[in-house]
Amino acid sequence: MIMSNTEQTLSIIKPDAVERSLDNEIKEMFKNKGFLIVKEKKIQIEKSEAEKFYKVHETKPFYNDLCAYLSSGPIVVMILERENAVSGNRDLMGATNPNDAEEGTIRKKYGISIDKNSVHGSDSVENAKIEIDFFFKD
Ligand code: CMP
Repeated sequence: MIMSNTEQTLSIIKPDAVERSLDNEIKEMFKNKGFLIVKEKKIQIEKSEAEKFYKVHETKPFYNDLCAYLSSGPIVVMILERENAVSGNRDLMGATNPNDAEEGTIRKKYGISIDKNSVHGSDSVENAKIEIDFFFKD
């Protein structure tokens, strides 16, 4: 029996990449790996919204800078769909720190630093649902 595991995940193209007009190139990388962009919007969020979005990191020393950064300029938020979308997106993004990211990954190609690492992706199917609702519940 052929089992299919179509999932959705949330992707954010962060301010450093949008600012450098890399959003279309990054979207092409997703499409080339078989992701369907189900919904997308370019927005700028308030710092208070970034604080809600990254609440899981609220005890981390980098939390304040992270939230200031995500709200510092336009971002592109997308719902991506594919077989095993959550892990597939994490593979395509590469390691959180672009210095550790493998060749062929988005963060290796475009990331500047651990903060300006160009993209965010949900880390589990459960969090993907929460993050998709956060940006696209209407
Ligand atoms: P992201 O996948 O968006 O999730 C949280 C973000 O925090 C992460 O990418 C990094 O850009 C940022 N960050 C900054 N410092 C750290 C750190 N020391 N460890 C993990 N993430 C960090």
